[in-house]
Amino acid sequence: MSNIEVSPSILSADFGYLMRDIEKVSPVCNRLHLDVMDGQYVNNISFGLPVIRSIRMHTNKILDTHLMVSDPEKYLQDFADAGSDSIIFHIECTEDPIRLLRKIKSYGKKAGISIHPDTPIEAIEPFVSESDIVLVMTVRPGFGGQKYLPDASKRISVARQLIDNCSSSAILAVDGGINTSTVQSAVQAGAKVLVCGSSVFDNPNPEIAIRELLKCATV
Ligand code: DX5
Ligand code: ZN
Repeated sequence: MSNIEVSPSILSADFGYLMRDIEKVSPVCNRLHLDVMDGQYVNNISFGLPVIRSIRMHTNKILDTHLMVSDPEKYLQDFADAGSDSIIFHIECTEDPIRLLRKIKSYGKKAGISIHPDTPIEAIEPFVSESDIVLVMTVRPGFGGQKYLPDASKRISVARQLIDNCSSSAILAVDGGINTSTVQSAVQAGAKVLVCGSSVFDNPNPEIAIRELLKCATV
């Protein structure tokens, strides 16, 4: 299954040595996952535009910006200008996901929706046909290092069906608690992009961690 990829979440990297950590994963990944948290939609604050601008200056990897912010529409243009290749927002944070998806695309960027574990997974249905990325949260958004939720794989498989039913080319990504024990279940349920924070950067050798994850994904 060579179409499976790991997207390292830099939330678990050492921000004092951010580019060093990004270089460690660069040989084995095509994309990086950037978690923006505002302290309102989620109970945590991470990083924002200046960090993304700086990363953009130093890497050609695909930059997926995951906005965990309560008013994403207000910042779409800024995150596009900062150098994101895709912008993913939470459907819980807007009344009109279609408008946001179209706005993101109007900036020449890939557009993604994400869904909180407490929101019924079917809520994504009206939006998958216009999405380039569907990001199913497999933990409660806000923090790295949490446990993969018990019903996560079931939700991934429903999302897979909803995407396939409308022949959408949306990439199905999953985010949270993915490690060598959970990765296979997520992939069997239909995930293609595996966002991994702690399982990559807590390992003294993040490159080997990614190789191991990919190996476990396809056994
Ligand atoms: C959580 C973030 C994740 C986080 C995942 O709200 O969206 O991207 O970095 O971290 P792990 O892989 O440690 O669960
Ligand atoms: Zn994320």
